[in-house]
Amino acid sequence: MGQPQPAFYIFKCQQSNPPGMPKPSCVRADNRDHFQYLAQSLMQKGIIATVQPIQTSCLGRCNLGPVMLVEPGHFMYVAVDKQAIDRIINEHIIGGEPVADLLIKDMFWDKAIQPKDLMRQMGRL
Ligand code: FES
Repeated sequence: MGQPQPAFYIFKCQQSNPPGMPKPSCVRADNRDHFQYLAQSLMQKGIIATVQPIQTSCLGRCNLGPVMLVEPGHFMYVAVDKQAIDRIINEHIIGGEPVADLLIKDMFWDKAIQPKDLMRQMGRL
């Protein structure tokens, strides 16, 4: 038996804009430690071997941040704080049920467009 691949990837936006930028960003002084909190929580539960937390830059939904994307499934969580991280780990990652009240609204997260379909729309295929 080979080394198992992760069951989940959790992408935590760690983008922090400099003061004065008109666009909001996910990381501020009061939530800078949330990636560490996520990783430590996974370690404390003993599941970090199969749940890979990843720090990422902007995921394109800054106005709804802090955001966190769980794969597989394209589950985008918004307004994430420590309490939300606890619920996502317990209910989604361990329990298998995405946390509906923390997910992004469909109007901000419509179905993905496949690259070949986008190329067709642009007349490049
Ligand atoms: S800064 Fe986090 S989604 Fe853009």
